[in-house]
Amino acid sequence: MDDLTNEQMMYLIETAEAFRRGQKQLTRPYYAANLFFEDSTRTKSSFEMAERKLGMNVISFDAQTASIQKGETLYDTVKTLEAVGLDVVVIRHGEDRFFDQLEGRVKLSIINGGDGMGHHPSQCLLDLQTIYQEFKSFKGLNVTIVGDIHHSRVARSNAIALKRLGAFVQFSGPKEWMDDDLLAIGRYIDFDQAVETSDVLMMLRVQHERHAFGMTFSKNEYHRLYGLNAEREKRMKQSSIIMHPAPVNRGVEIADELVECSRSRIFKQMANGVYTRMAMLQFVLQQREALKHEFVN
Ligand code: NCD
Repeated sequence: MDDLTNEQMMYLIETAEAFRRGQKQLTRPYYAANLFFEDSTRTKSSFEMAERKLGMNVISFDAQTASIQKGETLYDTVKTLEAVGLDVVVIRHGEDRFFDQLEGRVKLSIINGGDGMGHHPSQCLLDLQTIYQEFKSFKGLNVTIVGDIHHSRVARSNAIALKRLGAFVQFSGPKEWMDDDLLAIGRYIDFDQAVETSDVLMMLRVQHERHAFGMTFSKNEYHRLYGLNAEREKRMKQSSIIMHPAPVNRGVEIADELVECSRSRIFKQMANGVYTRMAMLQFVLQQREALKHEFVN
């Protein structure tokens, strides 16, 4: 998200909306692969759906059986896929900024499908699209990101982008899970206050797998202190919405019955994800064509 201008972000949101309305884009049959070295249901399947909807050929890649298991480096893996003719790879990797080792060294396009605790641009853009559909603008919107902020690449990407687009970003949840760097973007707010004042409550999954010493709260205790329950939902502003990148820990960060309530945009986010990813794929491939053209001329 750091590398995109505000105009590019808006262009991607508008393109995603055009795809949602049914715009067809015929591309030459590009070749893509999705390299997921961390677990994924939504991001992986929606990138694949986006690729297929764009008429691309999707080459299967299984991180569990790939030569990376024999010690091949990420660079050699990507270079191999470039050599066999791929145009674009989507990579999810546990290492923050895994892309630094690839940048400038390979010619195919790389989309970050989530890097460790770093960034998650496609989730961020689909969240922006969902908010934009709802409020038609970001200016002055009160967005509170709640929960396991420190471990969340979703929080980081969204905070940066939303602030740049003019939203008023705040953070809530356990203070010890805050990330001090993010306090430069927005302040910490008490959860019950956030519930009543936010236009968007962006709930985050408690990322058990990233807590080195296990979780410091019991599930019930977390839910009581920082979980969105029916009583809190009733105190939200009439037009406010609930978002969550999922997977959801039902009954922990959000009550089971709220996951599909009328304010929830959780499944809408997933549906939008396909269109956002179509826009991203088209954008990087168009940039690549433009670069090639520049080179030839
Ligand atoms: C998120 C992720 O992987 O960062 N999930 C997703 O891509 N929708 C958030 C999470 O795992 O909690």
